[in-house]
Amino acid sequence: MAEPLPIGVLISGGGTNLQALIDRSADGSMPARIVLVISNKADAYGLTRARNAGIPTRVIDHREFSGREPFERAMAEALREAGAQLVCLAGFMRVLSPYFIRSFHGRMLNIHPSLLPAFPGLHVQRQAIEAGVRFSGATVHYVSEEVDAGPIVIQAVVPILPDDDEHALAARILQQEHRIYPLAVTLHAQDRLRIEGRRVRILDAPTRPDAALLNPPGA
Ligand code: GRF
Repeated sequence: MAEPLPIGVLISGGGTNLQALIDRSADGSMPARIVLVISNKADAYGLTRARNAGIPTRVIDHREFSGREPFERAMAEALREAGAQLVCLAGFMRVLSPYFIRSFHGRMLNIHPSLLPAFPGLHVQRQAIEAGVRFSGATVHYVSEEVDAGPIVIQAVVPILPDDDEHALAARILQQEHRIYPLAVTLHAQDRLRIEGRRVRILDAPTRPDAALLNPPGA
């Protein structure tokens, strides 16, 4: 069996997506091994999750650097030293510069809690509710220089219900994030993803032409 792919995970907060990656790595269903977790915040709970799993952690606080580039150079160096071949942004709340993004071109994934290209940016659950759409969801995409706009690997769709506030919707979306992030990492680790312009071709992916959803579901 092939060696698991060494990956680095960048976080700023609670790290439930990190936990999903830790769990799927531990149970062998995702052929990747987390070699380093970096947080730009010392009090991010995700650091505790990593430590509990015996994963090396680094706090690299952007406020301790004279600018974005030295901060990112420190992160890139730490990732390289750890041997990370794929970088996963998981609730990492700093915008990255072209320098960093180019250094990990085709080797950096992000997860975003909307069906991109709808609702990029922040407070996206609120935006979706206010826009009156019937569905939202989550997207895993490769990171490109434009924020929340890189080639899409996988999406999950959830309904928006009449009484939803942004917290209820965020929780419903988060459950799906925890399914699709490990899946996207698995596809990358299995070398089954090909970036072709804005699109990602998945080798040997099952298709379900009838997998339509209606919300409300109908009478
Ligand atoms: C998730 O909703 C993710 O999509 C967004 O930030 C949130 C991070 O949550 N980028 P967690 O830290 O993984 O719990």
